[in-house]
Amino acid sequence: MQLLNRTAIITGAASGIGRATALRFASEGAKVVVADINDTGGSETVQQIKAQGASGLFIHTDVTVAAEIEKLVSQTRAAYDRIDILINNAMFCEGDDILTIDEELWDKNIRGCLSQTFLCCKAVLPHMMSQGKGAIVNIASVNALLGLSEEAYSAAKAGIISLTQNIAVRYGEHGIRANAISPGSIQTPSWVSILEKDPDLFERLSKWYPLKRIGQPEEIAAASLFLASDEASFVTGTNLVVDGGLTAGLKRMGDELVGEPSSDQRI
Ligand SMILES: NC(=O)c1ccc[n+]([C@@H]2O[C@H](COP(=O)([O-])OP(=O)(O)OC[C@H]3O[C@@H](n4cnc5c(N)ncnc54)[C@H](O)[C@@H]3O)[C@@H](O)[C@H]2O)c1
Repeated sequence: MQLLNRTAIITGAASGIGRATALRFASEGAKVVVADINDTGGSETVQQIKAQGASGLFIHTDVTVAAEIEKLVSQTRAAYDRIDILINNAMFCEGDDILTIDEELWDKNIRGCLSQTFLCCKAVLPHMMSQGKGAIVNIASVNALLGLSEEAYSAAKAGIISLTQNIAVRYGEHGIRANAISPGSIQTPSWVSILEKDPDLFERLSKWYPLKRIGQPEEIAAASLFLASDEASFVTGTNLVVDGGLTAGLKRMGDELVGEPSSDQRI
C-alpha cells in the first residue's frame, strides 16, 4: 500500500477524475477527505471509500471561498491530525472566444481554476511545513499547453503550472513536493451535456489521439498516485502530461506536408 496512513484532501472528488482519485488513494491506504460543493456526489464517493473498508470524510467546501477552505483544513486536522497530500482538482470551465465572454465570466474561470488552487495551497502549506513533508498535485490540462479554445479556462490552467513550479521551488527545502498533471480528454460527467448535443464527438476526437481513444479517470488517478507517493520522492515542479500522445506532435500536419493521407483517412 503506497499511501498507508497518509491523509489526502481531494477537491472536486464528488465526480469524475476526483472521485476516481479518491477511490484509488483509499485503496492504497489513504484517509481521504472529499471536498466538493456537490453534497450528493461527495457523500456517494465517501460511501464507496467506506465500502472498500477505507476511511473517508465528506466536507462540503466551495474552494473559491477562503473561509470554507480554512474550515476544510481545520476539520481535516480535527479528524485525521495531519495533511499529507493535497490534490487540487475542482474546476470551473465556461465560455470560449474572448470576444464572446464578459469580464465576469473571465473572472469566474480564473477563480474556479487558478485562484482556488492558490487558496488551497496557501491554507495547507503551513501544515505541511510543520510536518516537514507534503505532496501537492495540481490538475491542469492540455489546454494549458496549446491553443485549443476555452481561453479563460486555458489561461487559468496555464497559471496553475506556473504556480506549481513556484511552490516546488520555494517550499522544496521544507520537504514539500508540488507537481501538475495535464490530462487530455477524459471521459467524465463534465462531458455529458456536450455529448448530448454532439453524440459523435468522442469518436471524432479520438482520431486526434495517437492512442486513438480518449482517456479514463482512473488513468489520471494513477498519475496522481505516482506523484503523491514516495515513488516520486525526487520529482517536483514537473507537469506530467497524460494525454494519450495528443500534444506529442502533429502527425496530420506531417502527413499533409509529404502528401500522405492521414491514418484515419486511410481506414
Ligand atoms: N475531463 C476532461 O476531459 C479533462 C481534461 C483536462 C483536464 N481536466 C481537469 O480535471 C479535473 C477534473 O475534471 P472532471 O472532468 O473530473 O470534472 P467533473 O465535472 O466530473 O468534476 C469536477 C468536480 O468539481 C466540483 N467543483 C466545481 N466547482 C467547485 C467548487 N467551487 N468547490 C468545490 N468543488 C467544485 C464539481 O462539483 C465536481 O464534482 C478538472 O480540474 C479539469 O479541469 C479534465
